[in-house]
Order: sequence, then C-alpha cells, then structure tokens
Amino acid sequence: MMIFPAMLSRRAFTSTLAAAPFAARAFGSSSVARIKIDPDRKIGAIDRKLYGNFAEHLGRCIEGGIFDEGSKLSDATGYRKDVMEAVKGLNVSLLRWPGGNFSSNYNWMDGIGPRDQRPARLEMAWGSVEDNRFGTHEFLTYCNILGIEPYLCANFGTGSWQEAQRWVEYCNSSEATAMTKLRARNGREQPWKVTYWGLGNEMDGPWQMGHRSAEDYGKFALEGAKLMKWTDPSIKLIAAGSSNFSPSADWTGWNRTVLEHLKHHVDYLSLHTYVGNAANDYYDFLANSLLLDDRTKTAEGTIRAALTGEPRDKKIYIAWDEWNVWYRERGEGKEKGRHILEEHYNLEDALVVATFLNTFLNNAHIVKIANMAQIVNVIAPIFTSPTGLYLQTIYYPLALFAANSRGTALEVFVDGPTYKTKRFDSVPFLDVSAAQDGETLVLNVVNRHRDEAIEADIEAQDAHFTGAYEVSEVNGPDIKAENNFDSSPVKTTRKTVNGDGARMRVSFAPHSFTMIKGKLAKG
Ligand code: AHR
Repeated sequence: MMIFPAMLSRRAFTSTLAAAPFAARAFGSSSVARIKIDPDRKIGAIDRKLYGNFAEHLGRCIEGGIFDEGSKLSDATGYRKDVMEAVKGLNVSLLRWPGGNFSSNYNWMDGIGPRDQRPARLEMAWGSVEDNRFGTHEFLTYCNILGIEPYLCANFGTGSWQEAQRWVEYCNSSEATAMTKLRARNGREQPWKVTYWGLGNEMDGPWQMGHRSAEDYGKFALEGAKLMKWTDPSIKLIAAGSSNFSPSADWTGWNRTVLEHLKHHVDYLSLHTYVGNAANDYYDFLANSLLLDDRTKTAEGTIRAALTGEPRDKKIYIAWDEWNVWYRERGEGKEKGRHILEEHYNLEDALVVATFLNTFLNNAHIVKIANMAQIVNVIAPIFTSPTGLYLQTIYYPLALFAANSRGTALEVFVDGPTYKTKRFDSVPFLDVSAAQDGETLVLNVVNRHRDEAIEADIEAQDAHFTGAYEVSEVNGPDIKAENNFDSSPVKTTRKTVNGDGARMRVSFAPHSFTMIKGKLAKG
C-alpha cells in the first residue's frame, strides 16, 4: 500500500513500465525510486498478535505435526520437539485452535479426561476419524510451554450456547463448580484464563457445518456471546465475519448484518482470505495484497458505520485470522483424508506472504490480529516427515516480520515504477512497510520485479540513518524455487551496510523481500 501525504507531491514515475512489466527497461540514475518515512506520521501500534498462527485438526497439522505420540522426536506428552523449535523461530504470538471447519462439529468435552477413554468421532469437515487424544489440556499446555497466547474457536455450527459457555467456565473460572472440579480432576487446578474466543468459524460459507444466514448467525451468536461474557467478562470475542468473497456472496452485507447484532458484545471481526496462482500469472498473483488492502478498508468502513453513535471508546478491530496462499491442494478430491492441504511453497508464494504482512502493518490501526493458516504441514511454513522437518519458503518472511517489526507502524511514501495486470491498473513494483520501535527503524520492502533490481533512495523526514544497518534478504534462484528435505534454495541471507546521513541508497534484487533494520536518529 502506498500513502501519499498531502505535503508531498506525487511525481509521475510512470513510464513505459506501467503498461508492460515484461518489457521493463533497466533503471538509469534518473529513475531511482524514493522511499520516504516521517516518524511523526504514525499509522498505529503494531499488535504482536499480527504474528499469529493456526492449528486445526486437519490432515497432519496436529497428528504427525505438532503432536506425534510414540515418535522418537517427541517428548513424553507427545509434542514433536523439532517442531517446537521451528515454531519458536516464528515468534508465534497467538495460536488459534481447534479449527477452522473442524470446530463447527467439535464437542470440546470429547477432548478432556484420560486419553485412552476419549471417544473417537467421525470427522466430517476433512473426512477422517478424530481420536480426540489432543484436546484442551494438550493445546493449552503447548501454548504455555511456548509462551503463546491461545485463541479458542467455539463451535457455533452444531454446538450449543451451553457448550460454549461451559468451555469458558472450564478454562477460566475460579468458582467451585462441576466444570472447574472436572478440570482439577483432569490435572489442572488453576484456570488458564484464555482471553481470545471465536464465535464460530466461516459461518457465511455453505461448506460450513451449521452454516446460517447472516441474520440467523447474528441472533444465535449474540446469545452465545452473552453467556460467554457473563461467565468471564474479561474475555475478548471474535465474530465470524466474511470468508466467502465469491461474486454471488454479499460479503459486505454479511459483515453489516452480523455487526448490527453483535456490535455491543464483540471485540473483533474475523475475516479470512486465501489466494493462489492457478493461472500461472506471476505479476497478477503478486498483486493480491492490493485486494487484501481493499477488503480491509471496506471492512473498516463497515465497522465504522456500525459504531456510529456508539461511545467513542467502543472499538471493534479486524482479525484476519486465516490467511495464506492455498490453491494447489484445494478442491474436489483433495480435501478428504490424512495427507491433505500439503501445499509445497515456492519463492513467489513467500513474496506474496511478505506483501500481506506489509498490508497488515500498513493497516495497523485497525488490523490487530492475523493468523497465518496454518502452522505445520497443512498450508504451512513447517513441513514434517516421521523423521524430520524442513522450513518452507514462506517461513522466512514471517520469521523476519515477527522478530523485528514491532512498535509503531509508520506511513510510507513510495515514488517508484508501477505495472498493470488483468485485475489491477497500477501495481507498485516496490511494496513497503515501516515500523519504529524507540530508535530502531525497520523497513520491509518487496521488489515484485521478476527480472530487474530496483534502486531506491530511502529518506527520513527530520531524522537520519546512523550506524550499522542489518539487511536481511529472502530470495532464491528463481520464482518457482522450492525448499525440501534435502535443500533450501530459498532462505534469508544477511549483510550489514552503514547508514550515515539523511539518505540511504539501496538496490533491491529481483523477486526479493528485504528487511532493513537500524538506528534512526533525530535531526
Ligand atoms: O485452513 C483451512 C480451512 O480453510 C479452514 O478449516 C477453514 O476455516 C477455511 O476454509
């Protein structure tokens, strides 16, 4: 996303590139792009929960992913230790569980008590049998060990208000009740105090078990929300907003109706999006973040409209609590069984992921939760076999963002070349976000150009660059390069440059994501 502050005039950097990215000419010294930040122009606080993830009972995400009982690679509980190490490398802030579509027929009480006595159930979302050996205790203990904030998604499909209410009571209450005594008998005396609770998953999708109209969902969810908040007023609730962006679905209408019913009870509106490159059109695929930005701003407008006349401190934020690239392992015949949704990612996917993270930062005032879907094996940055794992291409940008882009998101002025695709008239080759934490500045730059490096002058208003700057670049030999168990051609390489002065010139390699981090001094 580009923001053009009023004080700066938009110099047309147009060009021959605009119409034909494939015929782009090499840049001369007169065509150096400009990236300018102004520490006074703040977008909003970057919520750590933008670096969330998601674990669903789907394929090998839980079973054979984070949990593998009896494996030499697992600890005594069954957690895969190598996976835990890889998860740590992502600095995951928030983990959503147990679904996804799975949650819409999940009875949480099936997943507590002695493991060997838990019932096996037919799992209809993803065509398997759920043995329930990984349940509430296993999930919340996993989060505790890794220092991750848990996010439980309640069943608002086939589930009841009472089931949802009792799940909150079981997890959070300190009162002496049948639920809390049961929790203690199952090994957990103290409440976990889970803050984040979803009021169902993708209830706008006809594929969802218990799918409802917006009106019916809004009314049903309201009663569940009341009971959950009366059980623990400190919890934060997330309404199931739009996930169905098909031309026949009225996605803005869904959000409008749902918010009318739930605006006094919820804290977040959940949105989901997956993108793909089935047409093998690199430039159009790389432009998907423009759509993400558009949907974010549209949803923000719907929230503002819903909150008109409400007290000014009443806030509802956006939770993009499922997002990723997903298209190869999708559709008829590919979504039932154990080895499903095992997407293998390449470099272009990693660049799309980086542009999505830029978009979350560039909307940091309203987007406060984002969960990449999912964490292991299932459309995931970590991929396991029974004997090991490797890090997929999309792992690298996510790890860099989560470790470094903190504090406050700053507006970015970008003056550079653009291109056109079948869906978008003007796509900047350089996609940029900026974060400032104290004196530390982080710039995240994707060069969408497939074939050419782009040079840019980085400038800061009333500030200068000083000292050593860490430059981390995610790149690989070509846009289709993938990692696997034997080799990782797509990875992060690091170097240092000196930032002395008001301007830094950097050359961004073709098809790359670059993070630049260093000290920004006043004056
Ligand atoms: O993440 C895979 C699936 O995608 C989830 O279960 C569902 O919510 C979405 O459609």
